[in-house]
Amino acid sequence: MTKKRRSENWYGKLDKDGFIHRSWMKNQGFPDHAFDGRPVIGICNTWSELTPCNSGLRDLAEGVKRGVWEAGGFPVEFPVMSLGETQMKPTAMLFRNLLAMDVEESIRAYGIDGVVLLGGCDKTTPGQLMGAASVDLPSIVVSSGPMLNGKWQGKDIGSGTDVWKFSEAVRAGEMTLQDFMNAEAGMSRSKGVCMTMGTASTMSSLVEAMGLSLPTNAALPAVDSRRMALAHLTGKRIVEMVDEDIKPSDVLTKQAFINAIRANAAVGGSTNAVVHLLAIAGRVGVDLTLADFELGSDVPLLVNCMPSGKYLMEDFCYAGGMPVVLRELADQGLLEGAQTVLGRDISAYAGGAECFNRDVIHSWDAPVKPAAGLRVLRGNLAPNGAIVKPSAATDALLEHEGEAYVFENIEELKATIDNDDLPVTKDTILVLKGCGPKGYPGMAEVGNMPIPRKLVREGVRDMIRVSDARMSGTAFGTVILHVSPEAQAGGTLALVKTGDRIKVSASQGILELLVDETELAERRAAWTPDEPHYTRGYAKLYIDHVLQADQGADLDFLVGKDTRLVTRESH
Ligand code: FES
Ligand code: MG
Repeated sequence: MTKKRRSENWYGKLDKDGFIHRSWMKNQGFPDHAFDGRPVIGICNTWSELTPCNSGLRDLAEGVKRGVWEAGGFPVEFPVMSLGETQMKPTAMLFRNLLAMDVEESIRAYGIDGVVLLGGCDKTTPGQLMGAASVDLPSIVVSSGPMLNGKWQGKDIGSGTDVWKFSEAVRAGEMTLQDFMNAEAGMSRSKGVCMTMGTASTMSSLVEAMGLSLPTNAALPAVDSRRMALAHLTGKRIVEMVDEDIKPSDVLTKQAFINAIRANAAVGGSTNAVVHLLAIAGRVGVDLTLADFELGSDVPLLVNCMPSGKYLMEDFCYAGGMPVVLRELADQGLLEGAQTVLGRDISAYAGGAECFNRDVIHSWDAPVKPAAGLRVLRGNLAPNGAIVKPSAATDALLEHEGEAYVFENIEELKATIDNDDLPVTKDTILVLKGCGPKGYPGMAEVGNMPIPRKLVREGVRDMIRVSDARMSGTAFGTVILHVSPEAQAGGTLALVKTGDRIKVSASQGILELLVDETELAERRAAWTPDEPHYTRGYAKLYIDHVLQADQGADLDFLVGKDTRLVTRESH
């Protein structure tokens, strides 16, 4: 140990300041030797009863503490803002950057040497990683883990995915309201995150693929006792990481992001991974762009989980989990060499992985779907890009030209979508404005607009939908998302009118509004942005500073990091 520990600046001082830092901590019953220069490990916890997906993290924190003490460290747990995806309005995404600020400033202000990030629900994992990356102390993730498979009327049902299906079935008159409500408890029957390959499980899968957690972290169910053991082992490992000085910037290299992009295709992961990976890359200074996501477009879909397939995360776990996916990528030469929290190359995560159910994790030669990665679309309607997830789309609609039907905002959509005289057919392209980072604000998950009721009754279950919104990682359909620049920022999307023709080609990467330039220039001259609903507080700060989706929707002044030690004392 040559390098002075960061925590010595708090607990190693033999003066008034050292007295204050130690004495007040001793009110919790910590003995003198807790302050003998051992690594202080912060356990950054997003536990909350309002974030049900993270409600198991109190228990897991105890597991982490066992491991930290065992390895000779001093664990200290602290809360940060928690973001309950299903509970927050207008959308948890509005607060991802606020969580990142909370995490960053908490880590920086306290006398800690390394951090264990306890997160799970959609925005908590990226928010914590963004914040930790901007301080760049040794950091490792333990995720909540997925809920047990949903069970109802003898069938497996998946978080989110079956909500969208059931709600369409009710609207089509194929399911009773009573059955609909009875399914609620069956869907969510243990602690943990959505057990589909939604955003939470996508992010924990990518965390594993980037070597930011111990192997198997992604898929072990929240209530599986092996997750508690994993937390314990993670506590041991972070103490070693502090001595080895393995920081997020060592792990989060361009290669790690490329591995994440390919892994996201192979697992059929969420479109939300795009904005989160871009934002995390911005914090560590890795030059990642939307175009890099094309690196995943030829990767086949291997994991047969909802919403792209039929199984759930418990099945994925028992089939072998992420190590099998990483092994498939490695066997194809598609796993880039990258440092991990283990201090070894990411190939160590794949080594020896065995698949126990080939219907759940398909082999490369017999995939669930070929070429499943996200597609980036560009054109005058999205000069800075938009994305579509082919694995969750209808193949025939991925090459399409049709007439737009425009909803100027979410309220208009909700008020009119079920009108019997809505002038739409199955070939219409539904367009929704005002749902981007600035517009909603927070870029809500409303891009998978409901199919108009009159078409649902005709049996239509998918249509092209275009917006500046995101969609839930559990959702599906031919949904074109993240149109950038967004309508509220004056993007071409703001100028689309009902009846305009739009051309979509996923194979050629095209999203084109077929209206000539002169006409568009006239419409642009007449356009004004909507008055923002929020005029004060954090939401105003967010609206004034949020970057567009193609840049990860971080706040402009949060990009980058500051690794300097804070030396001034408060007394
Ligand atoms: Fe929290 Fe899905 S809502 S993980
Ligand atoms: Mg979500």
